[in-house]
Amino acid sequence: MNPSAHDVGQLLRARNGAAQVSLLSLLSEIQERYHYLPHNALVLLSETLDLPLTQIYSVATFYNAFSLKPRGVHLVRVCMGTACHVRGAPRMLDETLGLLGVEPGQTSKDGLFTVECVNCLGACALGPVVVLDGEYHHHMTPAKLRKLVASVREAEEGAPAHAEAAVHC
Ligand code: FES
Repeated sequence: MNPSAHDVGQLLRARNGAAQVSLLSLLSEIQERYHYLPHNALVLLSETLDLPLTQIYSVATFYNAFSLKPRGVHLVRVCMGTACHVRGAPRMLDETLGLLGVEPGQTSKDGLFTVECVNCLGACALGPVVVLDGEYHHHMTPAKLRKLVASVREAEEGAPAHAEAAVHC
């Protein structure tokens, strides 16, 4: 789905005008809607908010929550920090990648999952930690992970087909 002036305009109107709009909240909404920040959406934001495009890109690239490249519908973050590493994160990462048929930073062919490796998710005592769409799953095991992925796939059953795979890092 490509953003249009209409889409961005709707977001702005929903916030009662550009003056009160928080750039961060708009970027979050665009990210949520498209699973990344398409360039043309950022151009439209720049024009509408009368902010330099460089300023918008500077904010967009500062926060890890934003992506300038397409992501899958669901984001899987596997912690590879030291605490998780010693508790089995490498096995968890291998399991995740094998299950979804991707490399780190890639999106599954069905467009459902993007896998990212991160250095620490701030829950070191609970490792290995996997975060799916912002929800923490601790003391992960390959069996728990398979169940989690299967439950997402089940929930998505019947949903329209998603985009082809894309490489992100
Ligand atoms: S090292 Fe994994 S949460 Fe900190």
